[in-house]
Amino acid sequence: MAPVPNSRLVFRELPSGLPDPSSVFELDATPTIDVNAVELDGGFLVRILSLSLDPYMRNRMRPADTEGDMPALPLGQVVTGFGVAQVVRSEHPSFPAGCHVGGFMPYQEYAIFRDSKEGADESAAMPALGITRLENRYNLPWRYFVGALGMTGQTAYYAFKDVSNPRPGETILISAAAGAVGLLAVQYALSLGLRVIATCGSDDKVAILRGLGVKHVLNRHTDDIAAELKRLGPIDIFLDLVGGPLLEAAIYNAAMNARFLICGSITTYNAPMSEAFGVRNLWLVNRYRITIRALVVIDWHDMYLAEFYSVVPKKIADGEIKVIEHICDNFEHAGQAFVNMLTGKSIGKSVIVLRDE
Ligand SMILES: NC(=O)c1ccc[n+]([C@@H]2O[C@H](COP(=O)([O-])OP(=O)(O)OC[C@H]3O[C@@H](n4cnc5c(N)ncnc54)[C@H](OP(=O)(O)O)[C@@H]3O)[C@@H](O)[C@H]2O)c1
Repeated sequence: MAPVPNSRLVFRELPSGLPDPSSVFELDATPTIDVNAVELDGGFLVRILSLSLDPYMRNRMRPADTEGDMPALPLGQVVTGFGVAQVVRSEHPSFPAGCHVGGFMPYQEYAIFRDSKEGADESAAMPALGITRLENRYNLPWRYFVGALGMTGQTAYYAFKDVSNPRPGETILISAAAGAVGLLAVQYALSLGLRVIATCGSDDKVAILRGLGVKHVLNRHTDDIAAELKRLGPIDIFLDLVGGPLLEAAIYNAAMNARFLICGSITTYNAPMSEAFGVRNLWLVNRYRITIRALVVIDWHDMYLAEFYSVVPKKIADGEIKVIEHICDNFEHAGQAFVNMLTGKSIGKSVIVLRDE
């Protein structure tokens, strides 16, 4: 068979501030691949189905010599991140043709993975993000494995384990509650009998959260968040996905022995650290005996990943957990979809779907 296109998404422009949707990425449609003949060298060839758009990718868009949590995205190179794919051809016994895999992969149509570091993309340098084989007992859409069944869903699920020790009747505040992590976290919180206060950025999102059963929903653009938290608090648990002024407001309204999970700080991702909002009331952490903990998804896989996969797919299949997504059909509009996700213009999990299977 003749070579077929192997289009890819290239990181084209180092953003200063919010990325420009028209130039941050570039669709490079020139590469091709001979799917039947390409050398595998003991590895396997995958056809990529879906790829994730996540806030942490903005942190990777920095000069290579600037320190960060994850390696910088090399300018001019193919974007990498979480994806789900199907094995097309294989010389690897653990990944036979036909099986599905998930993990860190290049944003292109086809990719080859080998055990050797050479040619194995960044997953070789980041074993915790490496490629694993996926099981789909409930025949859910494969794209869920970059969302509700992937890193996003795991983050939301782990927030309710011993990281926060939730007890029924306690009050939890969840920010960015109509986003990818937030929408799932809200549902886990309600299912555990927690009283949920959710913040989000539009009336449409308020309506969706109310539809899921959240009674106390605040629009961060139109509600007086500090006053509302005073009225609705005190807060026992805070799942902080945004940082900034909301973190300060949450500290003012914390219950005694509150648990704060610092999971994300999207208020700071598009500006230099020197411009970040400075939380001014940290002394109250002492008064209210607040426990502040980091929630980093990879830290909890050893303890809870197996449980996650034994519990969550069934909950989704049974309709107990609803999945809400914002789907970008191809690479062409990925820049716009990425910026929409960062600025709150999309609802739920943002995902690039190349093949919807
Ligand atoms: N530590 C970990 O392991 C881990 C894992 C996954 C995600 N995270 C973090 O969790 C957060 C949410 O991730 P996600 O994938 O679920 O993204 P997301 O919520 O789908 O998208 C980000 C949301 O942040 C909100 N936002 C943007 N700018 C804001 C601002 N200035 N102030 C308040 N809210 C703002 C927007 O929602 P509204 O406009 O509706 O408010 C936007 O929809 C991010 O900070 C991410 O880095 C951390």
